[in-house]
Amino acid sequence: GIVVADLMNETGYVTYDPGFTNTAQCESKITFIDGDEGVLLYRGYPIEQLAGKSTFLEVAYLLIHGHLPTVDEHDGFVERVNRHTLVHEDFRTFMGTFPRTSHPMAVMSSAVSALATFYPESLDPYSEETVELATVLLLAKARTITSYLHRRRVGEPLLYPDYSRGYVDDFLRMTFAVPYEQYEANPILVHALDQLLILHADHEQNCSASVVRITGSSHANLYASVSAGISALSGPLHGGANESVLRMLTSIQQNDGDVKKFISRVKNKEAGVRLMGFGHRVYKNYDPRAAIVKDQAHAVLSILGIDDPLLAIAMELEEIALSDDYFVQRRLYPNVDFYTGIIYRAMGFEPAMFTPLFALGRMPGWIAQWREMMLDPKTKIGRPRQIYTGSPVRDYVPLDER
Ligand code: ACO
Repeated sequence: GIVVADLMNETGYVTYDPGFTNTAQCESKITFIDGDEGVLLYRGYPIEQLAGKSTFLEVAYLLIHGHLPTVDEHDGFVERVNRHTLVHEDFRTFMGTFPRTSHPMAVMSSAVSALATFYPESLDPYSEETVELATVLLLAKARTITSYLHRRRVGEPLLYPDYSRGYVDDFLRMTFAVPYEQYEANPILVHALDQLLILHADHEQNCSASVVRITGSSHANLYASVSAGISALSGPLHGGANESVLRMLTSIQQNDGDVKKFISRVKNKEAGVRLMGFGHRVYKNYDPRAAIVKDQAHAVLSILGIDDPLLAIAMELEEIALSDDYFVQRRLYPNVDFYTGIIYRAMGFEPAMFTPLFALGRMPGWIAQWREMMLDPKTKIGRPRQIYTGSPVRDYVPLDER
């Protein structure tokens, strides 16, 4: 609501809107969501068409530059990203200093922030050329960083990129190949991961994108701003939900697969118990991304011949929730995070890697949001107001008189 404020002698109107449920912080041409209808468009293109027909780097180009690339633009972009996938040798050493047991999201936000120290030639936020360099560097290094996050956890060395392969194909090789052995990624998994990255590529002014914009509004560099976004994404109410979903499904499985009992704990609002992967601030209908991911989970598991009991538990949870008053009245539907973990697991990723995979997919969106913010003449430094509820003015009392 609108509050008439007397902010210590200031007068005027302040909008008090916790969680910014009704406050727009910018105009944007990048992504459109109709939460009631379950519609998601990137630069006007329906997500279903992009996930079905495009590739991750093409979608990255679209989000960042505003149009689908021509063949020359596409090939040039892919080539530039490919060429920058190698990281500085000291960067590998730097990433190697974190404990192997660290959560990979903490390492990822540190690593992206540290790109500013290794690539100082890409920091000028006012030069179009330098911003383009930082864009390409970030898309390229993020892939190498993400694969190394996995390899360090399992005690294997960083593998160097193979420029002859595609972005996702080589990511799977760098992540899962055994050194000195031939590795061919399963084309079904390459396609599935490409689609998942596309589905995660942008989602307008969500928590992490807003953080990227507000950090960048101080003209902090792209890496610093995206690193802040990665930190915001790590929370279980945001991107961290994909890891939490898998832990929730596993814990239900370990408790005799009793789905109804879990649902009643959710409805009783037991502390810390939510149906993870359900609910969304904007979607009050089925998340169109979740519908695609659900179909994909069935397809990938059946092609690989995997019978994952967690998929059955997830489907039972969904069926019960969608016909239960608690969820119906609150318009809670599966979001993008509900089924992704089952696919990542089938690919060989452990749960701690799920949110870094989300972050890898979201890079183009964060970059596009940051660039749009920097170029918009209406951008001002982000600086929300508050409603002060503390003590009125009072006099200091010396320590020995208290
Ligand atoms: N399980 C059970 N109850 C829920 C859930 C859930 N997953 N989500 C919302 N509710 C309930 C709330 O308890 C609240 O009930 P009340 O009116 O009785 O108090 C009501 O639904 C509204 O929920 P809010 O938390 O006010 O909704 P908000 O828009 O602030 O939160 C959020 C959205 C954070 C996504 C929430 O639905 C949630 O916590 N979901 C689980 C975590 C999750 O999956 N996050 C991923 C979101 S998508 C993404 O970031 C990629």
